Amino acid sequence: MALRSIIKLPDARLRMVSAEVETVDDDVRALLDDMLQTMYDAPGIGLAAIQVAEPVRLVVIDCARDDEPKDPMFFVDPKIIWVSDELACYDEGCLSIPEVYESVERPAECKVTFLDRDGAPQERHCTGLLATCIQHEIDHLNGVLFIDHISRLKRSRIVKKFTKAAKLEDVV
Ligand code: NI
Repeated sequence: MALRSIIKLPDARLRMVSAEVETVDDDVRALLDDMLQTMYDAPGIGLAAIQVAEPVRLVVIDCARDDEPKDPMFFVDPKIIWVSDELACYDEGCLSIPEVYESVERPAECKVTFLDRDGAPQERHCTGLLATCIQHEIDHLNGVLFIDHISRLKRSRIVKKFTKAAKLEDVV
């Protein structure tokens, strides 16, 4: 396993639509394991492959609290097949947009189909934090960021701040 570096706003790759994986082989499993290690190291509760600059439809999630045992979840080619009418609001953050937290409203529950780490088809009914997290990560696979769900004014302020910071980094 290896730590990968996480790309950050305004990196244009975050807007790519990631490609389907279809076959879970050792290379895919190695990338999933790298992603999990990178997510734990950050630390975060979810990571999509494009955040480590790999434009493929892979997601890792662990929503366990600090006082609970680790609960790593791997999603290959996840697809949302159902969402609840009921909505839920969470203060979302993103490892590609560090230190920014904004309240985002999404369906409170969803059902997702995916391939697991062994390539077996699975279906999962997601509730609570997991429901929010999987929707946030699947957004990444489609080039969508959580700031796309907040007001245009707030979003442009955040993009401006990160664009300016990236330019300063280029100078140094
Ligand atoms: Ni994110």
